[in-house]
Amino acid sequence: MNTVKTVRELRAAVARARSEGKRIALVPTMGNLHSGHVALVTKASQRADFVVASIFVNPLQFGAGEDLDKYPRTLAADQEKLLQAGCHLLFAPSVEEVYPEGMTGQTRVSVPQLSEGLCGASRPGHFEGVATVVSKLFNMVQPDLAIFGEKDFQQLAVIRALVQDLNMPVQIIGEPTVRAADGLALSSRNGFLNEEQRAVAPIVYRTLSNISDAIKQGERDYPTLIDAQVKQLEAAGLRPDYLEIRHALTLRPAVAQDRDLVILVAAFLGTTRLIDNLHLNLDMPA
Ligand code: PAF
Repeated sequence: MNTVKTVRELRAAVARARSEGKRIALVPTMGNLHSGHVALVTKASQRADFVVASIFVNPLQFGAGEDLDKYPRTLAADQEKLLQAGCHLLFAPSVEEVYPEGMTGQTRVSVPQLSEGLCGASRPGHFEGVATVVSKLFNMVQPDLAIFGEKDFQQLAVIRALVQDLNMPVQIIGEPTVRAADGLALSSRNGFLNEEQRAVAPIVYRTLSNISDAIKQGERDYPTLIDAQVKQLEAAGLRPDYLEIRHALTLRPAVAQDRDLVILVAAFLGTTRLIDNLHLNLDMPA
């Protein structure tokens, strides 16, 4: 596996692969890779002949006071994991390579509606930063397909929308969330949890499962259901940012008649913001 740091080197390597008739997959990441990322690369290598991963901690998607500076940078360990997972090329550019003119005048890509609410409400500008960097990565690599984790459900919806709205010839594939044995969704931010917080954290997924079970049993009073679960999270010492039931495709607040639902949560445990979601399609066999 080669690591390249410039767009010029990246394009040359991808062009070589394409001239050999290879199908190109891209797995965009911010590094500090865990088994969830490895699953994305494994899926990519099943679907394509040449797998490009990117590691870029994108300043444009971090707000003031967020964890940009302390976001873990673990390039050597990441390279090893990517190699083992079957990645062919790693693109690990600097901020200057991605934003040579700086970020202030950078053309932005914004996806209205889907970017509003949920994480978009508490992280203003976050999805514009994601949509912009993902569009740039798509233009740099020009992959046939790109793979993202379903853990970032709203992000995946935003990316699907931008690809459709801007007629980008990239197939977007969502890969199920990888969880620890106790249910906690794997995330680079889990490393910020101390031992005590790590022991409490699985309540986030239990909350989603409780709501899902109640809905499967016929509960349709969503506000009351959510209120009770918010109280449980608070009692366990978390500070919920949101806990919502939405329509899985449009992300609008769910009504009792909806069948394709997603339950989404973001909650602070200490200073660490955990997010998770559970997709529940009432028309699909369990
Ligand atoms: O999900 C992430 O790691 C990032 O938001 C992404 C998609 C790599 C864009 O920076």
